[in-house]
Amino acid sequence: MVKVNLKGCDSFVKDAEYQKYVGKALEAYDILDKETGAGNDFLGWKALPDGTPESLIQACEAVRDDWKARGVNLVVVIGIGGSYLGARCALEALNHQFVHDSAKPRVVFAGNNLSEEYLAEMMDLAAASSVACIVISKSGTTTEPAVAFRIVKEHIEERYGKKEAAARIVAVTDAARGALKTLSTQEGYRTFVVPDNVGGRFSVLSPVGLLPICVAGYDVRAMLKGAAAAKAQVSVRNADNPAIQYAAMRNLQYFELGKKVEVLVTYNPRLMFLGEWWKQLFGESEGKDGKGIYPASANFTTDLHSIGQFIQDGDRCMFETVVSVEKSRRSVVIGSDEQNLDQLNYLAGQHVEHCNAMAALGTKLAHIDGGVPQIEIAIEQVDEFCIGEIFYFFEAACGISAYLLGVNPFNQPGVEAYKKNMFALLRKPGYEAQTEEILKRL
Ligand code: PA5
Repeated sequence: MVKVNLKGCDSFVKDAEYQKYVGKALEAYDILDKETGAGNDFLGWKALPDGTPESLIQACEAVRDDWKARGVNLVVVIGIGGSYLGARCALEALNHQFVHDSAKPRVVFAGNNLSEEYLAEMMDLAAASSVACIVISKSGTTTEPAVAFRIVKEHIEERYGKKEAAARIVAVTDAARGALKTLSTQEGYRTFVVPDNVGGRFSVLSPVGLLPICVAGYDVRAMLKGAAAAKAQVSVRNADNPAIQYAAMRNLQYFELGKKVEVLVTYNPRLMFLGEWWKQLFGESEGKDGKGIYPASANFTTDLHSIGQFIQDGDRCMFETVVSVEKSRRSVVIGSDEQNLDQLNYLAGQHVEHCNAMAALGTKLAHIDGGVPQIEIAIEQVDEFCIGEIFYFFEAACGISAYLLGVNPFNQPGVEAYKKNMFALLRKPGYEAQTEEILKRL
């Protein structure tokens, strides 16, 4: 169960003011629930937790088992933005942080940047492994994944031949349109569908996320169950709904307290990529029409020793949202030392997680004293179920929050601007006129 705790905002916010925003969030909830708002043709994500057919999960498992039988020990997952961040977030959360389980393939990501060094080093690993590839692109034409796929595809074909390559490449793309769909049909790749009515940043519970997570050896049924549990929790029209609470409070921070930045904080390095996924979800959904809270993220206690100074003492432009984890799944107890030179004997016998929890409480109080309100969102532990929960919770909260803000949560007109310039500079056919214009400005 996802729990929202707003106590860390008490000293900044009057209850009547909060109730006003709960009222606004309830109106926004109705827009999302009744599907009457802008972008309502992109609400397919709402059906994924409980509407994903068993046959789709079995198809993911068939790829996993087939690649295991072929001896695959490296899966390159190619995609960017919404076609990348969800799976990366889940795997960073679920993988052992230091030891690779040799019973499972190693999963690495490519096509999420245009760094030559990154790709070259990734190909070094591919050359030393038995490699397969999942290429994910709804449009099929996004430059970063298309560049990476061209290189990985060539490697796989040269190494294993066309027939085996067709078994080692799986595409996740549009049902009928796009370059990747056409290529998959031509080459005989297995394909999974990104539903038309699911936008990239809301797609983690579709094959975009499920296939890589399943192939990596995790239980996607449990993830969908967690998402379904969160869906039940956020599908009630009242002030106890945690998505309504979160949406109401963050908009209050923005409109009434002038807080323009929200820092998503975790105290567990496993959740570092939750911040990356969440930044895209809220940044692309809300940052438009000259409005929106800038989504930032931090990992404590690590970043308390870097940007902690700014959060405590700098421009009072921000509030914090802490995603906390109630239970550690591992146990490390601090020992006693005869000399006690580090003066830590007062902690002897304590779990490290106890220190983490006290650091979190101490930071909460210090930041509140420093003028930084705090929202807390708690999950029980880091496993498939709870990761599914937090994914769906944030998706629903984002839809409500964006409607409350007064924007269409499901478009992203701003992401095209850099592409036009890049295409002109790369001299893509059709962009000749812009090339000359741009070169004059540089
Ligand atoms: O949220 C989005 O729509 C974007 O982040 C896209 O997912 C991203 O640009 C990748 O697009 P595509 O899947 O078409 O390659």
